[in-house]
Amino acid sequence: MRRKAFARTGVEVPVIGQGTWDAPESGPRMAQAKRALLRGIELGMTHIDSAEMYGAGRVEALVGETIAALDRTRLFLTTKVLPSNATYKGTIAAAERSLRRLGTDYVDLYLLHWPSEHPLEDTMRALETLVEQGKARFVGVSNFDTAEMLEAASYVRAVPLACNQVLYHVHERGPEHALIPTARDRGIAIVAYTPFGRRRFARDAEEGGALDTVARKHGATVRQVILAFLTRAENVFTIPKAAQLAHVEENAGAGDLVLDAGDVARIDAAFPRGKPGPLATL
Ligand SMILES: NC(=O)c1ccc[n+]([C@@H]2O[C@H](COP(=O)([O-])OP(=O)(O)OC[C@H]3O[C@@H](n4cnc5c(N)ncnc54)[C@H](OP(=O)(O)O)[C@@H]3O)[C@@H](O)[C@H]2O)c1
Repeated sequence: MRRKAFARTGVEVPVIGQGTWDAPESGPRMAQAKRALLRGIELGMTHIDSAEMYGAGRVEALVGETIAALDRTRLFLTTKVLPSNATYKGTIAAAERSLRRLGTDYVDLYLLHWPSEHPLEDTMRALETLVEQGKARFVGVSNFDTAEMLEAASYVRAVPLACNQVLYHVHERGPEHALIPTARDRGIAIVAYTPFGRRRFARDAEEGGALDTVARKHGATVRQVILAFLTRAENVFTIPKAAQLAHVEENAGAGDLVLDAGDVARIDAAFPRGKPGPLATL
């Protein structure tokens, strides 16, 4: 599994991590999801993404139970505050609840889940306080467009804004216009969520055919090619979610796949970037 610097933080993070949204929260499917998460960690996908929103805290608890016996320092744990909680005090209280559920005394990355009605400056001050208190190593935002991201960055002084986690997949390449280059220039990591875009990639369709051709050339799968394509820029990472063992193993296999310029051009032609527009969110 390739790792690269998480932009300005300098910390090395695997290019492919693991999402947890919609993870099964009970019964045999939950047990399977925990096994899958552990397997992913074994394979180097040690960046685990969660949020207080997921299963109203139950997914953070699932993550906490899964990692309880592991060496905490090997993991890069991310979670997020809900915008409705994102006052100064509310953010700190939400982070403390998340830490209890995750069974840890710090997260590696704490994010504002999407822009909130509360003053952004207050939320960012709370994020800085969490860093000062040792409860978060790095902080960032999610679902922020370029201007919003720069505004958030202007409010943090003690620590750099480390990350903006956004929707980015082959059918939604909007972030490539301004967001990814601006973030790169400012030392901000972009984490691509929903990398598979909830689509199927039929081999016989023109676009699926392009992915299939690149996949065959590398002895890889179409999904591995997608993950490698999305993480080709130096500051971009991704976090596919997979509750099934076979899926986790396939996704981890993308961690060492590097596409060449010809591969990128082929995919680029099949999935046009489109025009710049507002940042898409789920
Ligand atoms: N910040 C935000 O607002 C935001 C929004 C959405 C998502 N996220 C984060 O990003 C993560 C990923 O996004 P996502 O969960 O929306 O979508 P995704 O990772 O693009 O897709 C997840 C779906 O793809 C399936 N899958 C995964 N690997 C596969 C493989 N190798 N072959 C076939 N199917 C595969 C999974 O099935 P199984 O589970 O059955 O294996 C699941 O149904 C989330 O879990 C969450 O942590 C953040």
